[in-house]
Amino acid sequence: MKRCSQRGVAPPPGPQGEGPAARAGDPPAGSPRPRGRRSSWLFKTLILHLLIIYVSVPFLVRLFPALLAKFVFLNIMAFPFVDFGKPELLLNHTVNFYLTTEPEVTIGVWHVLPASRGIEAQGKDHSWYEETLADDNPVIIYLHGNGGNRASGHRVSLMKVMSGAGFHILALDYRGYGDSSGYPSETGLTTDAMCLYDWVKARSGNSTVLFWGHSLGSGVATNLARKLLEEKGIQVDLIVLEAAYTNIREAAAHIPITRIYRQFPGFEYLILDSLALGDMFFRNDENVKVLTSPLLILHSEDDPILPVHLGRKLFEIALHSYENKDKVKFVAFPEKLGLAHENICLDPELPAIVKDFLKNIK
Ligand SMILES: *[C@@H]1O[C@H](CO)[C@@H](O)[C@H](O)[C@H]1NC(C)=O
Ligand SMILES: *[C@@H]1O[C@H](CO)[C@@H](O)[C@H](O)[C@H]1NC(C)=O
Repeated sequence: MKRCSQRGVAPPPGPQGEGPAARAGDPPAGSPRPRGRRSSWLFKTLILHLLIIYVSVPFLVRLFPALLAKFVFLNIMAFPFVDFGKPELLLNHTVNFYLTTEPEVTIGVWHVLPASRGIEAQGKDHSWYEETLADDNPVIIYLHGNGGNRASGHRVSLMKVMSGAGFHILALDYRGYGDSSGYPSETGLTTDAMCLYDWVKARSGNSTVLFWGHSLGSGVATNLARKLLEEKGIQVDLIVLEAAYTNIREAAAHIPITRIYRQFPGFEYLILDSLALGDMFFRNDENVKVLTSPLLILHSEDDPILPVHLGRKLFEIALHSYENKDKVKFVAFPEKLGLAHENICLDPELPAIVKDFLKNIK
């Protein structure tokens, strides 16, 4: 982009009379420069622009913390583009529906059945799908991370794997993501997830219901679990946190995108402190001190986005405060598996890890 517009500012005269500079009638360039000098001038201008952007971003973020929310939620990264009403293009035995979570907010949700019920599901309507929630198969409320939507490849892969292992999966797009309306905020995401939880619980009978939070969504999972506990006295059956972190401030200090600013004077004040100004906390570390639900923390040792030590630290905090230590488990996936930030679902052991933990804590 930059190079294009700059080429327009000072076009080099084409040797064969090609290019915009050689059009008849063009006024002669005001001060003809030799090629070498011009390109070094362009280069310096480019560097200067980059420098100005680099220096101004932290100040802009401090002045307008809402800008930071764009980076945290990344809902503007709205791909893949799919017809959310046709989940069958990506997933078998799945229906799409909508919940109104606040007067102005409607969210899209997919319900993926356990694969074992796939054949009988053919041709069935929504009310039949709703009734299956009480069939005693465990129900996952999947709380995705930032960017993309419920159709993103790694999320669909996880849904397939866990459906194959006998779980229901309810995957929502929070407000501002996918085909859901509204704008994301930390409290808004919790409200959307709470609404889905209430909807599920009204239908799930004695089935186990668990939260599965990935990445940023781990913060939604613990916020929701804590809210349920403190406001309604409800202890959710199980919480799975995949590629989690301690809190958003510490996560931001370690994700790759902030690396170029870590040496910047005032990095903490200008960028990290601005997260709180933008009402973004995602306090997994504080939440696990309050929670009593069984907690399974999964992290790949080669996670390049949220380093594994953040997941381990969260586990240590939980282990320290949980009375029953058997209710907290940390599973690290070895570096050699190469599962990175999004692909723990590719480990064939995953369903057994979750099921065994569920069985042992019951
Ligand atoms: C649905 O299941 C069939 C049979 O197992 C399989 O061939 C097909 O790829 C599945 N469709 C999707 C979208 O996963
Ligand atoms: C749930 O379990 C209780 C006690 O075992 C039983 O009485 C009740 O009928 C069950 N409810 C459903 C919806 O299966």
